[in-house]
Amino acid sequence: MATIKVNGPTPYNVHIARNLTNNLAAHVKETGAANVAIVHQPTLAAPARVIAEELGAANLTVTLAATPDAEAGKTIEVASGIWDVLGTENFSRQDVIIGLGGGAATDLAGFVAATWMRGIKVIQAPTTLLAMVDAAVGGKTGINTDAGKNLVGSFHEPDAVFVDLERLYTLAPEEITAGSAEIIKTGFIADERILEIIEDSSERALDVDQNLPELIERSIAVKASVVGQDLKEAGLREMLNYGHTFGHAIEKRENYSWRHGDAVAVGMMFVANLAKNRGLIDHALVQRHRDILQSVGLPTTYEAGAFDELYEGMLHDKKNRDGKIRFVALEGVGEVTRIEGPSIEELQAAYAEISEG
Ligand code: GLY
Repeated sequence: MATIKVNGPTPYNVHIARNLTNNLAAHVKETGAANVAIVHQPTLAAPARVIAEELGAANLTVTLAATPDAEAGKTIEVASGIWDVLGTENFSRQDVIIGLGGGAATDLAGFVAATWMRGIKVIQAPTTLLAMVDAAVGGKTGINTDAGKNLVGSFHEPDAVFVDLERLYTLAPEEITAGSAEIIKTGFIADERILEIIEDSSERALDVDQNLPELIERSIAVKASVVGQDLKEAGLREMLNYGHTFGHAIEKRENYSWRHGDAVAVGMMFVANLAKNRGLIDHALVQRHRDILQSVGLPTTYEAGAFDELYEGMLHDKKNRDGKIRFVALEGVGEVTRIEGPSIEELQAAYAEISEG
């Protein structure tokens, strides 16, 4: 089993291996909790029951809290329903919540844990590639409201994260592809070996029985190092948003029907072109982005004619300061910088380079 330590205000471990149910249960028992709630998406009822049986055998009282799938689960109504269950079951400060599922489940479980009695332990058990390499690590929790996505939440670090590689076998190939965008992102911002492994063979790279476990470990190691130094995104953590400014604008325009990873892939292409046009990186590095993203099946272009809507979306990005759009950009692989307040002409030029047709 690989274990990556995340430093910060409350250090914790991310365990990466196959068949981690026993390890997860042993960890929960060690916390001294009497009550455990497993917050999970509907399709994960079976693995949730297996964990519940393991914990029940050790005399813990387990409640299964199924949530609606994906973003529909990240609402105040769903959170409130779980708070009601915690109240009925007399959850105390010593008790534990497990977040089992994709990023929506781990975000919601973290949010409920952060707010119940001003904060109880959450143990994250991500089941999608995206949640393994991004959402479950780093303590960002939240729900969506009418005002927007993830505007209500809190930084609440998990007590531990269990990345069970066995779950990857159940994912659709598109889920692996979309999750790989965040892995590629960590390659560009901090670990060139990730890029080399994919360049060597994208097929082997995304194969659970070949290089995918190493890529997951490397990607989590990058994220762990960054959030361990800057949990609350005072500066360094912002680099994890590489490709996200334009990516979020696409997601918003598409009413969140695009996979996050697909949007981030196009977002990386956009900002790579923006950086190239400023002379920060050369054409070859833009081409390297395109080649790597295309090799795993990620999109690298977006439809033409949508600049005004995308611009509007970028104007409302959370990273902006003093009304200026702010991009995380590269000066080279592993050399992160910022582009602040680019002109509309620069944005239009980068958009023209990634537009279809
Ligand atoms: N997903 C970016 C972050 O956790 O900061």
